[in-house]
Amino acid sequence: MNNDIKEVLYSKEDIKNIAVKIGSQLTKDYEGKNPLVICVLKGAFLFMADIVREIKTYAEIDFMDVSSYGDGTESTGEIKIIKDLDVPVEGRNILIIEDIIDTGRTLSCLVDLFQHRKVASVKICTLLDKPERRVKGVRPDYIGFRVPNEFVVGYGLDYKGFYRNLPYVGVLKPEVYENN
Ligand code: XMP
Ligand code: MG
Repeated sequence: MNNDIKEVLYSKEDIKNIAVKIGSQLTKDYEGKNPLVICVLKGAFLFMADIVREIKTYAEIDFMDVSSYGDGTESTGEIKIIKDLDVPVEGRNILIIEDIIDTGRTLSCLVDLFQHRKVASVKICTLLDKPERRVKGVRPDYIGFRVPNEFVVGYGLDYKGFYRNLPYVGVLKPEVYENN
């Protein structure tokens, strides 16, 4: 599995450090606001676990599974809700945790959905941001790292379901997806 990686971009220590930093900012920003922290499955599961442990104030957590990618490397422009939230969100302060924002289509759909459900506020925290590819005006409020326009995997991010368990974020060798 490690042989399929061209270059390691962020080690688990890098990610731990950034989670501590973002978490302390979130603690200040959400003090007294009882946020509902939403993990966008599956890619954000590890980063979510890191982030919520660094939020030192009351926070509720929930999970949503949306799909925009299928098995490929390009977003389709539509999202399908595979698992919705368990709790109502009207009037809540929502913090969405994502693995990566690429074109922005997924997050743009999600933000619209939450606004439609009359939330009090919605903010986005993403481990990775790939701003070069943005087609929708989505601006994350908390960003771990900005990545170049290459397909990255690991630390929750997958290609065809694999590599999520890599303890770092790395660039997938193009021959891995070009030959598939
Ligand atoms: P959009 O384009 O809607 O896409 O912002 C967001 C979702 O697309 C997936 N994605 C990636 N997954 N490596 C991955 O493993 C990547 O480089 C990559 N770029 C986009 C991801 O699921 C994200 O939630
Ligand atoms: Mg995702």
